[in-house]
Amino acid sequence: MIKKETVEEIKNAARIEEVVGEFVSLKRRGSNMIGLCPFHNEKTPSFTVSPSKGIYKCFGCGASGDSTRFLMEHEKYSYPEALRFLAGKYNIHIEETESTEEEKQEEKERESLYAVNSFAASHFAKRLWETDEGKSIGLSYFRNRGFSDAIIEKFQLGYSPEKWDDLTAEALNKGYKLDYLQKAGLTISKNNRDYDRFRNRVMFPVHNMSGRVIAFGGRILSQDKKQPKYVNSPESEIYTKSKILYGIHLARTPISRENNCLLVEGYTDVVSLHQTGIENVVASSGTSLTKEQISLIKRYTENITILFDGDDAGLKASFRGIDMILEQGMNVKIAMFPLGEDPDSFARAHRSDETKTFIENNASDFIVFKTNILLKGTENDPVKRAGLIKDIVESISKIPDQIKRTIYISECANILDMQEQTLMNELNKILRSEYRKKFRNHTEPEGPAVEPVLPEVRQKDPDQESIETNEKNIIRLLLQYGHQFITIKDAQNIVDEEEEETINISQAIVNDLVEDEISFTLPVFQKIFDFYRKFVDQGEIKSNRFFTQNEDKKIADAAINLLAEPAEISHNWKKKHKIYIVHESDILERTVTHSILAFKLDKLKQRRKALQYELQNTKPDDDNILDLLHRIKKLDHKVSLIADKLGRIVLR
Ligand code: UTP
Ligand code: MN
Repeated sequence: MIKKETVEEIKNAARIEEVVGEFVSLKRRGSNMIGLCPFHNEKTPSFTVSPSKGIYKCFGCGASGDSTRFLMEHEKYSYPEALRFLAGKYNIHIEETESTEEEKQEEKERESLYAVNSFAASHFAKRLWETDEGKSIGLSYFRNRGFSDAIIEKFQLGYSPEKWDDLTAEALNKGYKLDYLQKAGLTISKNNRDYDRFRNRVMFPVHNMSGRVIAFGGRILSQDKKQPKYVNSPESEIYTKSKILYGIHLARTPISRENNCLLVEGYTDVVSLHQTGIENVVASSGTSLTKEQISLIKRYTENITILFDGDDAGLKASFRGIDMILEQGMNVKIAMFPLGEDPDSFARAHRSDETKTFIENNASDFIVFKTNILLKGTENDPVKRAGLIKDIVESISKIPDQIKRTIYISECANILDMQEQTLMNELNKILRSEYRKKFRNHTEPEGPAVEPVLPEVRQKDPDQESIETNEKNIIRLLLQYGHQFITIKDAQNIVDEEEEETINISQAIVNDLVEDEISFTLPVFQKIFDFYRKFVDQGEIKSNRFFTQNEDKKIADAAINLLAEPAEISHNWKKKHKIYIVHESDILERTVTHSILAFKLDKLKQRRKALQYELQNTKPDDDNILDLLHRIKKLDHKVSLIADKLGRIVLR
């Protein structure tokens, strides 16, 4: 752990304008600096840096914080990583708190493993570039494949000679310990002989996130079918296969920038795509993605495009694995290459822009893609078709976002030429059983399961009922999408202006409701709203976990129920989406706007009623009467504006 004093020193040394300035171009304005916000899309700068306060704040999206926060948000560093980055930048020596003997030992072991791997990587590269054997066999192999020298260097590719202990002998000679060579899997010891794992192969070093070599894949050069094509390093203290993606150290910034991650199978696919200028790409190294790998990608984007070579069998086998990506709330697209081509061969045979365009044009949404593939050949087979529905709806049920699920149901019903309701029923069946399973697992230790219903409220008149539906809807939107950004037409006040702005959803809702001093009927909703209001004021963005795990059980229950319950979506909505391209953000924007307006309209009407009542009970000569009339007139005007606006939001 970094010592407290060092943390202080680092924080004191860090100049916010210099830290942010590395990533955002800033202009001076008065005592502040301004620039285009790196956290949301904008054309006019609203991102402000205050050197004197040591903080940044975006008046567009509400992002704010100090130097470490900026690095954590922008570079996705952990807190200690951010501190280390700053220490490096400002030449501050990091003092660590005393670690235990065991920790020291572990640290030493890890460092030693990094050291032997790093040595091995440069050893293999040297052999490739500087020996006759390396040049004539390894280098010519790469060049024949069309790899440029620059790309070979970029990926630190290498060559392991035929000799049985070339690396081991050299490493021992240089003072590296046999123990670590073995643990890193570079040296195998058998029958009193220490020999190299990798021999007569071209070498692909595998890097971790920060670019340190942690493992190798060695590709065979011959067509020998008896030997495996690749020999890979075994797992070690520093290498867990399921947590690493090949190429991530080079791809992370491009993935963020493109807001999309291309996923391929092999080392060579990654290398070739890079060479053609496509850098937001990682490889799963021939296995299906793990949860950890998906989370790794999710740090940089919510979007994955899987590039498949044209082979149907492999494709269907991977469908299950893809459900796991959906489950994590990511958007998955599939791009299929022509039969016999993989990304590597395609990239080599086409110009860079052709490859890019090909991927863009061929990427189709996974669910739509799956539906179409499965549909093939079932046209006249009702039994097969029934099975197919289940299969597709199962995938849809994995998607955590309820709005997206509804959209997919519509879309698939359209492709399958079926009633939406049939698919919807199937979906609800799956969701209910999933929910029951989950719910049981979560609450069993604490007591009996609670039914997922909202707390019952007193008998209501129809107006009141409408208000409650609408306020429930608002809170649900906050919980579900509060942390997301949308482009909304005039976020400050939906009624008055028509300007477009990208804004955080919770900010949009809070600002709008606060302006008209609108409150909630249900106390627990008011409480949740007040929290959001506080977060917005402080420029914080909290995930809905804050609520689902809230110590106030009422808040937690309400939040969980709202997030779990399949919320009613207006019928108008369902009719939409018969179109193929789904503009989620567009729909989301309208939903948010629509919900705010509907809620507001109810509330203002209620207020109008109260004023009317007051008016009836006021004596004609009362001084207040003019004021009352004025307020009613203003309200009427507002109500009609909102009603009008509401009418104009088309939810097809
Ligand atoms: P591929 O067979 O597609 O390999 O396997 P490739 O890298 O594209 O090689 P070329 O194009 O034939 O030269 C995809 C990935 O599966 C893993 C490797 O990570 C490989 O990149 N793999 C494959 C192994 O680990 N071992 C094997 O024997 C084969
Ligand atoms: Mn290949």
